[in-house]
Amino acid sequence: MWRVVVILSAAIVGIPLAGHAVEPSGYGQAGGEFDIKVPRVPAAELAEAKALQSPFQPTPEILKEGKEIFLGRGTCFQCHGPEGKGDGGAAKVLPIQPRNFTNPKFNKVRTPGEMMWVLKNGSMGQSGRVPGTGMLPIVGQFLSEEDGWKVLLYERSLGEEK
Ligand code: HEC
Repeated sequence: MWRVVVILSAAIVGIPLAGHAVEPSGYGQAGGEFDIKVPRVPAAELAEAKALQSPFQPTPEILKEGKEIFLGRGTCFQCHGPEGKGDGGAAKVLPIQPRNFTNPKFNKVRTPGEMMWVLKNGSMGQSGRVPGTGMLPIVGQFLSEEDGWKVLLYERSLGEEK
């Protein structure tokens, strides 16, 4: 639980976004997640991130482990919501809304490798340079890279068209 408190405090401290001339419109305002079409990985690292492949296939076993991490020690549900819709209890106090992983379009524009980049580096949001969206680095902090792949494969499974 303390981890969530630390993450949230850091997110709130990192807010000084409003009023910056170069911010995308709406940046830092409440209400809705931000454009999925804008890559979160900086341009110089994008090709490498896109090419990064998961060592796991999304088998039922891997997805089960990923779900346990999402709802458990990963604390992802606190912001992304118990069903991954981006509506977790902690989302209300965040300047940028968490990603809704149940949107099938998300998987089409984002590769697993780009998601891993965000898990390692955090997300700077749409501007690509302002830190503090609330999505702070997780892999290398309190999840291993293997756990990171499992949980992101689970997140992607939520957006699969059934
Ligand atoms: C403190 C709140 C918070 C927690 C906890 C959190 N996230 Fe996030 N996450 C966010 C926010 C806010 C965004 C949106 C950032 C943006 O729009 O750039 C985000 C975005 C992401 C993205 C990037 C989506 C994209 O557009 O590429 C991934 C991947 C992700 N989260 C995975 C996770 C995983 C996995 C966990 C748990 C291990 C987790 N998050 C925990 C707040 C959180």
